Amino acid sequence: MSAVGSEVKVDTGAAIEEQLPQRSPRRKRLWIIVAAVVLLLVVVAAVVGGVVGSRHQHKTTTASNSSNPSSDSSPTSSSTSSSTPSSTPSSTSPNAAYSSSSIAVTGWWTSTSSYSIRLFYQGKDEHLRLIGYDSTDGMWSTVTTLTGPTLRLGSPIAACNYNSTLYFSSAVTSTNNFTQIDIFYVDKLGQIQEWEVLEQKVPTVQTSNINGTISSLGLKPAANSRLATYWPSLIFQDELNQLQETYYTTSNKWLQNPLNLPSQNHSALVEVAYSTSSARQGGGNFIYQGDDQKLLAEGRSSSTASLKADAPTVSIPAESPIGAFSVPRNSQANSPMNTYTLWQNSTGGIQITWMDDDNGWQTTSTPDSFGSPDKGTDIACLTPSAYSLTPLQPKYDMARCYYLVDGRIREVKYDGSNWSVIGNVPLG
Ligand SMILES: *[C@@H]1O[C@H](CO)[C@@H](O)[C@H](O)[C@H]1NC(C)=O
Ligand SMILES: *[C@@H]1O[C@H](CO)[C@@H](O)[C@H](O)[C@H]1NC(C)=O
Ligand SMILES: *[C@@H]1O[C@H](CO)[C@@H](O)[C@H](O)[C@H]1NC(C)=O
Ligand SMILES: *[C@@H]1O[C@H](CO)[C@@H](O)[C@H](O)[C@H]1NC(C)=O
Ligand SMILES: *[C@@H]1O[C@H](CO)[C@@H](O)[C@H](O)[C@H]1NC(C)=O
Ligand SMILES: *[C@@H]1O[C@H](CO)[C@@H](O)[C@H](O)[C@H]1NC(C)=O
Ligand SMILES: *[C@@H]1O[C@H](CO)[C@@H](O)[C@H](O)[C@H]1NC(C)=O
Repeated sequence: MSAVGSEVKVDTGAAIEEQLPQRSPRRKRLWIIVAAVVLLLVVVAAVVGGVVGSRHQHKTTTASNSSNPSSDSSPTSSSTSSSTPSSTPSSTSPNAAYSSSSIAVTGWWTSTSSYSIRLFYQGKDEHLRLIGYDSTDGMWSTVTTLTGPTLRLGSPIAACNYNSTLYFSSAVTSTNNFTQIDIFYVDKLGQIQEWEVLEQKVPTVQTSNINGTISSLGLKPAANSRLATYWPSLIFQDELNQLQETYYTTSNKWLQNPLNLPSQNHSALVEVAYSTSSARQGGGNFIYQGDDQKLLAEGRSSSTASLKADAPTVSIPAESPIGAFSVPRNSQANSPMNTYTLWQNSTGGIQITWMDDDNGWQTTSTPDSFGSPDKGTDIACLTPSAYSLTPLQPKYDMARCYYLVDGRIREVKYDGSNWSVIGNVPLG
């Protein structure tokens, strides 16, 4: 197999198509027709009101300013702060998160300087919640309850997004110009389900929701498996606790392959981009806890390249939540990624293990203001989509992580030099 880091083609779709046994031009045309029909049905359904397009562009006047958090979204940051927000009572808002809710976050660059973030969690009523942030207005939206999907209480949640016309090389039309956000979760039967939120801004603003194609496969992860995704890949642990990957091909098929990586039962799972040039070729970096409890990163430069272990050699507590994001190191087309991993140590604090140069992994502690993630929750970090019109940028604007502290979703960020707390995401 080709070595990781060896030359990869910078071209996009074609490389992904090459490995597909199922591909033929006819199938692709069929997929486009099917997609067009489905979209038409969704639009009709949305108009009729059956499948409600849950818009969340509308901003609430009470939403706090993320870069300037209001007093109720304490703490207000800084590495010198020694505030102990643990006395804050849990939120009683109808949109408050379930106490050990999973958190998933995804986002994309809308230009080289502006971006969108979509964050998902489970409410106390078990429903999936969505809250969005757009840098152009600098505010979180109101929370939307997505009533379509039925999640198991405590379901893992994973989210990714992509420009579907870019991924499938289909034609942009006035009704087919979406950013597609895919949310994966586990239903009450213990099966992996996929919910899709399709957001179109231009030429007309439209949002539709649709059941995803993975839903009918009946994939059963281990009872306590987590989920991670970075389009077009989804990973989970099966009932034998083997790490499995399902990979969505441009010919509209989920291909499933074991990753053959020995992992801790109930390991936290993350997928981030591996390098700029590999990000649109099925490359990826899988971050998880090995069966020796060590934090591990296994990267590949394309969907067909073999995985190469990159071990930070830190042991972390069993089943510790792990969040990670990656940012291109430079603006070159084949830039490696700087990768930052947050995990919870034995005394509950968050530590950061990262690599941003050729000198390997380093680990550091975080200020007290970071707090301790609530028991059973995730740490979710944001790596923008590679399949958006504006590709990955060597910038830290979107370098953020989220986790529950006292039932509230705390947002922290890295600016390329320093870590700080932004505040709590305003769930209303
Ligand atoms: C958000 O905070 C920024 C920086 O503090 C400030 O410039 C901006 O006016 C604030 N926006 C709102 C809507 O409060
Ligand atoms: C998706 O990508 C295509 C290029 O393939 C571009 O024309 C279109 O504007 C993009 N759509 C969105 C929503 O960014
Ligand atoms: C598609 O959407 C993108 C992003 O919203 C926009 O820039 C572009 O003009 C749209 N293209 C068409 C053909 O409407
Ligand atoms: C999606 O489809 C699957 C079967 O294909 C079904 O089991 C599931 O309930 C559907 N989910 C929603 C939210 O409609
Ligand atoms: C991990 O899970 C597998 C399958 O459920 C089980 O057989 C095994 O004993 C578990 N290992 C540990 C160390 O708990
Ligand atoms: C756990 O993490 C916190 C925050 O980074 C740090 O202050 C503390 O020393 C760590 N505890 C251990 C046992 O390493
Ligand atoms: C990071 O923090 C250090 C020390 O507090 C400060 O000197 C430096 O200016 C900060 N860097 C940025 C980019 O804010």
